[in-house]
Amino acid sequence: MSIQLTKPSFNNKEYELLKKTLDSGWVTEGKKVQLFEKKFSNFQKSKYSLATNSCTSALLISLKALGIKQNDEVIVPAFGWPTTANVVEFLGAKTIFVDINKDDFNIDTEQIEKKINKKTKAIITVHLFGLASNIDEILKITKKYNLKLVEDSACAVGTKYKEKFTGNFGDFGCFSFHPRKLITTGEGGMLTFNDNKLFNLARGLINHGMQKIKSNSSEECGPWTFNDFSFPGINLKMSDVAGAIGVIQFSKLTSILKKRINQAQFYIDHLEKNKYLKLPSLKKKVLTGHTYQSFVILVKDGNRKTRNDLMKNFLNKGIQTSLGTISIPHTNYYSKKYLFKKNSFPNSKLCENSSITLPLFHNLKKKQQLLIVNVINDFFNI
Ligand SMILES: Cc1ncc(COP(=O)(O)O)c(C=O)c1O
Repeated sequence: MSIQLTKPSFNNKEYELLKKTLDSGWVTEGKKVQLFEKKFSNFQKSKYSLATNSCTSALLISLKALGIKQNDEVIVPAFGWPTTANVVEFLGAKTIFVDINKDDFNIDTEQIEKKINKKTKAIITVHLFGLASNIDEILKITKKYNLKLVEDSACAVGTKYKEKFTGNFGDFGCFSFHPRKLITTGEGGMLTFNDNKLFNLARGLINHGMQKIKSNSSEECGPWTFNDFSFPGINLKMSDVAGAIGVIQFSKLTSILKKRINQAQFYIDHLEKNKYLKLPSLKKKVLTGHTYQSFVILVKDGNRKTRNDLMKNFLNKGIQTSLGTISIPHTNYYSKKYLFKKNSFPNSKLCENSSITLPLFHNLKKKQQLLIVNVINDFFNI
């Protein structure tokens, strides 16, 4: 493939800290992870950050810490990566899907209230592709019905809503460092929150249920605390190998963001006159900046065949693209379990059928971007 969809960029800084970490002999969770967490909290202005081995782990622990259990209902946008719904099902709770807006690919807040009943316990909002969802409206609803809020910020490291970074509005924010994200640790995630009552619980849940207990017993050696296992937590921690990469990647976030926004603008400048396409929405620019974790366009006729033909043209030129993301209710498991009809969640399905993600990564060159826009404009005879 001559142009990949994404390619993380590492340099000597990552290699050096990685070597230091390996040479130190300490590769499980340790000082590098703690440093990464501290830097993340300082940047985000969140009181706590806990590094995990994925965003999925962070989402799972959020729901568990909020007490989501069997038969509870959790509201999730229909369009996104299945994991956002899977974590709900994993805990034995029920996923209640809400369709999205075609404009920004985020949850349609006007459709949320009609899905709420006595069993509804939480909303997971997703800030898809790096654009914040409509947080003001979501907060009105969570307040009115006393619901918990988890922000799936997997795609939104560095995304702001008004003056605050996403991840700071709900009970928990969950971030991903998968290679398709702005910064990567191979696999990895971060859980952010501000409530100190949740710290011991969340920390224990990702670390075998281990908690520091104050001891008055003279039989205990060491200082005044010892570790006990207070509940059945599991092991979802980040390793110091990933943490070392994270520390360096995170120090590059601002320059990565700047470059990415310029690259996205290049696509916009060269494609905005193409009447067959719908480009990522900038309508909410006043409220939220787009960080373009993915640059996703729609073919306006909504036709899966047009989209697939365009993707084939890319493939023939050695350019990797992918569909935007998944209409989760239409996947095998959810459609069978909840007996959804083909025409349920129409916007979500339409976006799955007609979306394409264009290559976007730090070292993507202008001449490569030009090649990409030419494939599109040639396809539509423009
Ligand atoms: C919206 C969303 N949520 C969650 C995830 C899961 O992230 P991870 O791969 O770090 O578990 C992804 C991954 O692509 C995602 O796009």
